[in-house]
Amino acid sequence: MYTETFIFFLLLVIQKAGAADRPVVTFTPNWNKIFTGESITLTCDVGSTVQGDLTYSWYRDNRKYTYTKQTITSEKTSDSGNYWCETRTSGRSDSVRLDVSDGLGILQAPPRVYEGDNLIIRCHHRPGYSSGHTIFYKDNGVIRDWGPDPVLHIGNVVVRTAGKYKCNKEVGSSSWQGQYEDAVSIDVQELFSLPQIKVTPHPVIAGDNMTLTCDTSLSSLRQMTELQFAFYRDGRNVQEFSSSDKYGVLSAQLEDSGNYYCDVKTSNNAVNKTSKVLAIEIKELFATPEIKVKPFPATEGDHMTLTCDTSLSPLRQRTELQFAFYRDGRNVQGFSSSDKYGVLSAQLEDSGKYTCEIKTLANSLKKMSRELHVQIQELISSPEIKITQYPATEGDHMTLTCDTRLSPLRQRTELQFAFYRAGRNVQEFSSSDKYGVLSAQLEDSGDYTCEVKTLTNSVKKMSQVFNVRKQDGQKDYTLQNIIRLTLSACILVIGSLMVFYHMRSTNRKPPVGDGTTSY
Ligand SMILES: *[C@@H]1O[C@H](CO)[C@@H](O)[C@H](O)[C@H]1NC(C)=O
Ligand SMILES: *[C@@H]1O[C@H](CO)[C@@H](O)[C@H](O)[C@H]1NC(C)=O
Repeated sequence: MYTETFIFFLLLVIQKAGAADRPVVTFTPNWNKIFTGESITLTCDVGSTVQGDLTYSWYRDNRKYTYTKQTITSEKTSDSGNYWCETRTSGRSDSVRLDVSDGLGILQAPPRVYEGDNLIIRCHHRPGYSSGHTIFYKDNGVIRDWGPDPVLHIGNVVVRTAGKYKCNKEVGSSSWQGQYEDAVSIDVQELFSLPQIKVTPHPVIAGDNMTLTCDTSLSSLRQMTELQFAFYRDGRNVQEFSSSDKYGVLSAQLEDSGNYYCDVKTSNNAVNKTSKVLAIEIKELFATPEIKVKPFPATEGDHMTLTCDTSLSPLRQRTELQFAFYRDGRNVQGFSSSDKYGVLSAQLEDSGKYTCEIKTLANSLKKMSRELHVQIQELISSPEIKITQYPATEGDHMTLTCDTRLSPLRQRTELQFAFYRAGRNVQEFSSSDKYGVLSAQLEDSGDYTCEVKTLTNSVKKMSQVFNVRKQDGQKDYTLQNIIRLTLSACILVIGSLMVFYHMRSTNRKPPVGDGTTSY
């Protein structure tokens, strides 16, 4: 009924473009169906990286039909078929279906439709005929029912855009009027796969450099599409959209644990996809250190050892740790590989609040222990020098005693005592806590001190000064007392002459323990 007089031009253009390793067949204009007599250009795109022999071969329905680029004229609907191409060095392309119709009305759509495409379909009638009312259907429901406009803008393609589309159009000539109907099934190709969020290393140990990757793959035919990636933790954005599909956390800490996911979108916002959530739990590299002391309690003179105790993750047993020790916030041992701080002979001044700190060699992680209050127990109390035998008169016996108490925990400790007068040793260290002067002379007065120490010299303590002094003009204590007694007797006589007799102490005891005495 309709004479085929149109010429069909099939133009084969060979081009070097695109990024796919496999060639891609494209149609220009991008319709899957044309009328006989209309022309369409088929292009075989190969990746720009492909070098060398670019001799193309074209196939239709698996039959090679041409070796070189050329224009084919055709008058036949038999130009319909599945087209694909290949070169000597690249693989073969996917095949693309082209239909050539000798009818009056066709519904045209792109041969491949991707998510995010701006989709247009056309209810096309053969040139030279008049057209009228056009109705579009999708899956048998009317989606547009007005006027003769052949073009339907469907817009941004999403998965649910797929379906069977149909159009019904009034077509006519001066002598004839009829209706044509055509349909097309539209499949929506994924532009990129649903992203998957991945983490390395796995598992993540505190201090590791953690890298999250938002993994997706672009459809091989849309390799040039620019994608953007964003990352979220617990619903909060941690990296804005950018062209990087990676999110790195240098030296991850426990606080970086959380539920991570990523978003991928095209730079024009047409398509976006969200990954599933990945729960990341950052594991401890080493436990919070605990500081311990031995012995406990530590006594003066003890060899005291503080230990900074922790345990390494079984996954990172080889990590080198460094330890430092502090007393009252001040560093007493800098970072080193030793987890111990030793005090050879602990003294009272070594008491204080101790903490220790652990870090990795690379400084990626640092942890401080809690405070440990170390109170060094006294082994011996500060000695007190006393006069225990007082020389009543010059030539009398005088004894000084060096008095101290041993810790109840160390009663068996052997002590040694030394005595000094005016800073000069008068009795060497010995086990005797007494210093005796057989016949005290004036020259024996002076500032006495005594010193006590352990046999091993681990503790040494000096007493306060005790002053044994002579009194000017009173060579003889007895004489002094006689004078006093005489005086007292006189006063007594005078007193009794008045009203009552008066009694009065005339004996003066020498003060003991106030650090001063006299004779
Ligand atoms: C983490 O990355 C930083 C900087 O690139 C590097 O200096 C450090 O050695 C890395 N740490 C680990 C544990 O790999
Ligand atoms: C992703 O697309 C949806 C609609 O499909 C839109 O509501 C949403 O805002 C988009 N998100 C982003 C981040 O572009």
